[in-house]
Amino acid sequence: MKISKICCIGAGYVGGPTMAVIAQKCPQIQVTVVDLNEARIAAWNDNDLTKLPVYEPGLADVVAEARGRNLFFSTEVDKAIDEAEMIFISVNTPTKTYGIGKGMAADLKYIELCARQIARVAKDSKIVVEKSTLPVRTASAIKSILDHTGNGVQFQILSNPEFLAEGTAIEDLFTPDRVLIGGETATSEGQKAVNALVDVYANWVPKDKILTTNVWSSELSKLTANAFLAQRVSSINSISELCERTGANVNEVAKAIGLDSRIGAKFLKASVGFGGSCFQKDILNLVYIAKSYGLDEVADYWEQVIIMNDHQKRRFADNIIKTLYNTVSGKKITFLGWAFKKDTNDTRESAAIYVADYLLNEQANIAVFDPKVQEQQILTDLDYLNTRSSEENKNNVDITNDPYQACKDSHAIAVLTEWDEFKTYDWQKIYDRMLKPAFIFDGRNILNKEELEKIGFIYKAIGS
Ligand code: NAD
Ligand code: UGA
Repeated sequence: MKISKICCIGAGYVGGPTMAVIAQKCPQIQVTVVDLNEARIAAWNDNDLTKLPVYEPGLADVVAEARGRNLFFSTEVDKAIDEAEMIFISVNTPTKTYGIGKGMAADLKYIELCARQIARVAKDSKIVVEKSTLPVRTASAIKSILDHTGNGVQFQILSNPEFLAEGTAIEDLFTPDRVLIGGETATSEGQKAVNALVDVYANWVPKDKILTTNVWSSELSKLTANAFLAQRVSSINSISELCERTGANVNEVAKAIGLDSRIGAKFLKASVGFGGSCFQKDILNLVYIAKSYGLDEVADYWEQVIIMNDHQKRRFADNIIKTLYNTVSGKKITFLGWAFKKDTNDTRESAAIYVADYLLNEQANIAVFDPKVQEQQILTDLDYLNTRSSEENKNNVDITNDPYQACKDSHAIAVLTEWDEFKTYDWQKIYDRMLKPAFIFDGRNILNKEELEKIGFIYKAIGS
């Protein structure tokens, strides 16, 4: 079975870039990305490619090539479902904020709404692909909804989790380490569906990198991959604290252990804590699933990754307060970076939000500069915590688009995101504008200690 029309529900950080790449690599397939959010769709359709809702290096070029040819962004969800042979579900699956599993389980209400909508609209057989990250065994719930509420047509459910990382999404999609497809291969219809999706990816991904498994392995592999990656960050962050006490240097330790090919060099960069929309959510989900099967030791083991991450963010803020003579009340502290990592405008679960919150509780004044994050997003992130009124956040947080202005009359700089441009700043000019002693707390270990100390800064990096 050859696929000629794909629909993707959800035009977010995953749906947008993933479908743009499928469309670019498969000009023979019509790809329509739909979303309920009209503003988001309008931004995807904007002629000015700097206004795309997702900032990702290389994305604008891919969209420019495919959009209007075989890539379409639309709010007409029913029409796109009706026309497509294959429907990707790429909607958000946040941590539940209410009821059973509050604060841990994944909220599947958007997934269920999509399943019900597909069931209502579909008049012929469809392959439904789980692209969102989902708890293991979700496919059976989707199948049940589709089979019981549909129009008697056939549905095949595949799991095809996405492994792209933000900031490198296009590269990751062009040359993935692997593509994972979970399907029901015991039946010929199931096998045909798996083959159809394999054929889509085979347009640009070598066949030996396309892995097929059963549906449950595929769903669980996604949560496991994120848990392992986050665990490495928490592991090295735990060692960073020990380094600070003992005179060891975490960069040197990371290099020394990373050269062991069994350990490997990646994901060993100590930081102020991992952020992003998925690591915490997916580990909490894993913990919840383990608990729901009565596997308390398994649950506790993985929960420790989150506990260590929260500790790291708190510890970073505490260190600023302690170093600034135990008070930051009324002092200006400049944040360089607000995004959860470089090369993205995404701020979800960014460590910066929590560090700012702790410091605002201590009555600090925060100035923020981030090259890609909009002012309103920063205020929304703080308001969302519900720690203080919007008015107070506005009064105590000054957001500017000039880094030199952000550092003026500041007592300390905190580097929260590893943006490359921070390394190129005129640090002497920044030093001259700051109050003395001028401190830098490098939460990303990206600046040059010797150079900054020579200028006169008191420089403190995570893990040394
Ligand atoms: P997102 O919030 O950026 O996008 C989701 C979109 O779905 C939103 O625009 C929302 O309006 C839309 N939506 C929700 N319900 C809808 C409905 N019923 N009909 C139409 N549109 C609807 O989320 P995201 O970051 O793209 O993540 C999506 C999924 O992919 C999540 O499960 C996430 O865990 C997973 N994932 C994310 C990443 C990442 O880097 N962000 C990577 C891998 C996997
Ligand atoms: C992560 C995974 O890397 C992707 O494979 C996965 O698809 C995605 O989650 C998802 O499911 O959403 P992402 O969160 O976009 O991708 O970015 P990462 O590069 O993994 O970084 C996550 C956080 O860990 C960032 O805050 C980053 O700064 C931090 N990090 C990462 C470190 O502190 N140290 C490191 O060595 C690596």
